[in-house]
Amino acid sequence: MRDYEPYYTEDGSIGLYSYADKDVYHSKFGALTEAWEKFVIPSGIDTIIDKKNKLNVLDICYGIGYNTKALMSYVINENYKYLREKNLFEKLFDIVSIGINNIKYKIKELLRHNVSLYDYNFNKNKVKILPEINIDCIDINEELIKLSPFFVTIKTPGEVYSEFVPEFLSCFKIYYKFKNMFVNILSRFYPTNRKKINELLDLKFKNMHIKKEYKVNKLVNYILLNHLYEIYRSEYLDKNIKEILKDKKTCRFFDKSYIKYAKFNHFWGYNLSSKHSLSTFLHNIYYRQISKRYKNINFKAAQSLFNMSFYIEDARKTILSPKMKYDCVYLDAFTYTKAPQLWSLEFIKKLYDCMNEDGVLLTYSNSVQIRNTLMENNFYVGKIFNKDTQKFIGTIASKNKDKIEYPLSNYEIGLCKTKAGIPYRDPTLSLSVQEILNKREFEFNNSSLMSSSRYMKIRTLRGGNEKV
Ligand SMILES: C[S@@+](CC[C@H](N)C(=O)[O-])C[C@H]1O[C@@H](n2cnc3c(N)ncnc32)[C@H](O)[C@@H]1O
Repeated sequence: MRDYEPYYTEDGSIGLYSYADKDVYHSKFGALTEAWEKFVIPSGIDTIIDKKNKLNVLDICYGIGYNTKALMSYVINENYKYLREKNLFEKLFDIVSIGINNIKYKIKELLRHNVSLYDYNFNKNKVKILPEINIDCIDINEELIKLSPFFVTIKTPGEVYSEFVPEFLSCFKIYYKFKNMFVNILSRFYPTNRKKINELLDLKFKNMHIKKEYKVNKLVNYILLNHLYEIYRSEYLDKNIKEILKDKKTCRFFDKSYIKYAKFNHFWGYNLSSKHSLSTFLHNIYYRQISKRYKNINFKAAQSLFNMSFYIEDARKTILSPKMKYDCVYLDAFTYTKAPQLWSLEFIKKLYDCMNEDGVLLTYSNSVQIRNTLMENNFYVGKIFNKDTQKFIGTIASKNKDKIEYPLSNYEIGLCKTKAGIPYRDPTLSLSVQEILNKREFEFNNSSLMSSSRYMKIRTLRGGNEKV
């Protein structure tokens, strides 16, 4: 049985609740907003791409992929102009490829280096080469990875309401006979008032108008689908996945157009096509399926920006043989009491070892224990600051001090060195959750370190507001 339940988070994006872990997968304040504000924006990818024209990302606990989707959207939007040029360029290549050999050769060369026509002609010194984005995604749950491209990212309360009403009426047989008529009549009475919809459906939407720039680019899910098809081929839409996608209770959380696209691929035997005809095939389907708005940028060009790998296993295993040095590590594991294996001293050490000197590690956690674990591994540690809410919303760590805009205060560092900061230990990277929890409890009970409450009391008695 599925051990998670989809629900709407406060920004209208879909979040999951896990029965097994009795925990949410995503912030109830907004799954998509969290991905942007705690992971993508603070990771400063612009600076990294400007420097190297390349970005290596490790998404630990990919789940249904919000962090990766937000990152991909950012990269596509930033390169929109160049993707369009590349498209134009490719078309030009198609035209001249039958003719003059010399031009054909030149264009081929430029294409190979991703050089845009504009930059080549008018500004030879500043050649824009499209960046290379490598993303490694890890999650232990294969089902979530497979489902990730199908999830509707955002819904407004009005959209949710208009789905609920027919769902409610569907228990009456007569409804099916006059379905269209009912829907037409009812649609006149849909409350337009957001407060009323919230009350009626007991939805907790707050930021119905999610920031425009936070939306997931429509190409992203198609790109993900294609990458996943490359991996799973005919096993992608297995019986289990098909059942989940059409389950009456949850199907409203899935986007029909992506399901259609996947089914189409499946039906025509995606895995039988040769590599070349495959890309033509996908290209054609893409043009048939995607709205006009997206036709002017090249899907293939956007897809070629991303090299993606999926690891469906315990992240502790993947990290033993990292495929590259990473610039960004997104650590989005369940809270440390539920998944201490992904917050242990030894696991974080492995992350340190596979990061570039300028790399950044980001997590939503503000915990003293996690911050101490990072410091014990020689990271410089700081806070993620949200300018809109004026709050600290997570933790950033790097080998490079300059990457830390809001370092921990002396007070906070002191707090990390109390008993509360004792890390989890998993020396063989293979202990069970309970073993790791027991180990820490033993260390905690036998530690001579000061307790955090005593530390706070002493510092308060000394006076002064030294917390921040
Ligand atoms: C908080 S959720 C992450 C949400 C995710 N970032 C998203 O955008 O949907 C935690 C995820 O960790 C995964 N997970 C749990 N234990 C794991 C392990 N040992 N290795 C890798 N992934 C794990 C779960 O399957 C779950 O998807």
